[in-house]
Amino acid sequence: MYPTLAAFVLLFHISTAVLAPTVLLNDGHRIPVVALGTGRGTAKESESVDQVRQAVYWAIQAGYRHIDTAAIYFDEEQVGEGIAKAIADKLVTRDELFITTKLWNDKHRTEQVVPALRESLKKLGLDYVDLYLIHFPVSTKEDDTLDDVDYLDTWKGMEQAKQLGLARSIGVSNFNASQINRIVQNSKIWPAVNEIEVNPTLTQEDLISYLQSLRIVPMGYSPFGFLVSRKTENAPPPRADDPALVKMAQKYGKTTSQIALRYLIDRGVIPIPKSTNQQRIAQNIDIFDFSLTKDEVNTINKFNKNVRVINPVDWKASPYYPFGEY
Ligand SMILES: NC(=O)c1ccc[n+]([C@@H]2O[C@H](COP(=O)([O-])OP(=O)(O)OC[C@H]3O[C@@H](n4cnc5c(N)ncnc54)[C@H](OP(=O)(O)O)[C@@H]3O)[C@@H](O)[C@H]2O)c1
Ligand SMILES: *[C@@H]1O[C@H](CO)[C@@H](O)[C@H](O)[C@H]1NC(C)=O
Repeated sequence: MYPTLAAFVLLFHISTAVLAPTVLLNDGHRIPVVALGTGRGTAKESESVDQVRQAVYWAIQAGYRHIDTAAIYFDEEQVGEGIAKAIADKLVTRDELFITTKLWNDKHRTEQVVPALRESLKKLGLDYVDLYLIHFPVSTKEDDTLDDVDYLDTWKGMEQAKQLGLARSIGVSNFNASQINRIVQNSKIWPAVNEIEVNPTLTQEDLISYLQSLRIVPMGYSPFGFLVSRKTENAPPPRADDPALVKMAQKYGKTTSQIALRYLIDRGVIPIPKSTNQQRIAQNIDIFDFSLTKDEVNTINKFNKNVRVINPVDWKASPYYPFGEY
């Protein structure tokens, strides 16, 4: 018997897609350990927001089940359209997907949180997200000047969002250890996740072990650090052609970008690589057929300079500025 075209297409997808494993969150839900980044921070000038729709679709085709967006990326509609097309084309069902979005700084008052999430859901075309994060501990007014809303008040709104079923899990982003400690000391529901910058020049060893001791899963943004695509004149090593990384890449038959992503996986951190390029999207999830040794992880740890890709120094005067020491 000859397979039908649909069956052939299905087989083709099974043989090329790479599914990331999932891990358990502290609230009982499971999270896929790689997410597609959709932030616009590294987008080239020629790269329109419409490319996000296609990137999300390609990602789902390649096996991604986790997409990371945020209200401030202004691409929730395009993310939602990519998801809707993938569901319509029967690549996935909604419950196989894990969608993360984030609350912006100017909606930090308790009573603003649920309406802000409803706004995001409308743009995404979804009736719930899997994970809703406070994007930064810092609060600002609509004109971008600093405000002084305590993130504990924001967290109360996040708890309401979870109780309403609008977000299955709730968490934070860019919180430092003492801020995490203050939330867990003062709240019934603990953050499931803290999304922070992690890459070879910002290895975050102390914060990550603290999070893991509380069973809060670290997600790692800007996982490539200064490896690719950044203005690199004054940036610290490693670059993509760094000899230590090239050696590992050759050993495993991978690219140095894949080594950087696997470095996060092997430390229990969920990498969030951004790409709008079909081949790089597929490459960035093709990291589950090898792992780094302890020595290799340590070699990469030694690149640490506590230098940030994302450093919003304009907010330094906020009482909740998280990056005091580094
Ligand atoms: N919570 C937060 O505050 C926060 C802050 C920053 C970022 N994030 C999240 O984290 C995601 C990723 O961070 P990011 O966008 O700053 O940077 P990133 O993912 O570290 O780097 C993205 C850059 O790398 C290029 N790239 C992707 N894959 C590649 C590969 N395999 N080989 C070579 N180059 C590759 C991309 O270009 P192409 O697209 O052309 O491939 C793009 O220029 C964001 O999209 C966002 O979702 C969150
Ligand atoms: C964490 O953030 C608080 C502000 O909420 C700040 O006072 C403290 O210095 C920060 N801690 C570190 C280690 O940067």
